Amino acid sequence: MSSALPHDLNIEARYVLAKQVAQEAARRGMAYYQKREELNIEHKGDDRQDLVSIADRALEDYIRAELLAAFPEDGFLGEESGSADLSARCLWVVDPIDGTACFVNGLHNWCVSIGMLLDGTPHIGAIADPNHIELFHGVRGQGAFVNERPLRVSKASHVREGLMGVGTFYPRGTEYFLPFLTSLLGEGGMFLRNGSGALMTAYVAAGRLLGYYETLLKSWDCAAGLVLVAEAGGRSNDFLRGEGLLHGNPYLVACPGVYEQVAEMIGPMLNSD
Ligand code: IPD
Ligand code: CA
Ligand code: CA
Repeated sequence: MSSALPHDLNIEARYVLAKQVAQEAARRGMAYYQKREELNIEHKGDDRQDLVSIADRALEDYIRAELLAAFPEDGFLGEESGSADLSARCLWVVDPIDGTACFVNGLHNWCVSIGMLLDGTPHIGAIADPNHIELFHGVRGQGAFVNERPLRVSKASHVREGLMGVGTFYPRGTEYFLPFLTSLLGEGGMFLRNGSGALMTAYVAAGRLLGYYETLLKSWDCAAGLVLVAEAGGRSNDFLRGEGLLHGNPYLVACPGVYEQVAEMIGPMLNSD
């Protein structure tokens, strides 16, 4: 373990555990996915696109139990089960299935996302995608990888040189999104929405996407991915500002060559509440 890591915390053990638990949760997720027609799908609140199933809840219960059994002093924030001890130095931020709409509809774009904040900053990330047999992982100051291969963001300097990931969410689907799309297309850019914010963030780190903009993302969608983007040489907006951890914020990650161009296309919305 490098001397750049805090000595009083066993970061290496947490990193190893995050990868193991993400992989095992993804394996369990695959078992549900292969029998997905038997799942009872619920819609959360009034949002017809916000879905949850027994698979999401069972995986989060498993992840939470494993992480806190090994590190009982740590905090936890999960999409399905809420929070415990948000003031802990090490705070796990977990989405058991990111891409639930894909999962229930038989599309292969979903993953398990396990992030850990250290003193409020994303520090460990593990994103397991069992359909493509890819584990994206990294630690702040230690690099980021897909399986064993190092990640590097794109070298592009204009949006026309590749694809931008995009995403939007009721009720921010129109004024936060359509003007941005108009600008992107006007500059010769093109967009992709694959239904998993965690995977699109990992794809930015891998240089597969130039960047990724979402009108309102939640911290469990991106806590792990933000580590990967930073380690792969990318940029991000100040996503965790204000109430970002608990309620989310507009979100932009991109390679350095297009970050400013895309931020300008989004405009003041990027830093609004
Ligand atoms: C969703 C996905 C999607 C993004 C939504 C998220 P979920 O997470 O990340 O790509 O557009 O904002 O809520 O519901 O599949 O965990
Ligand atoms: Ca999610
Ligand atoms: Ca989820």
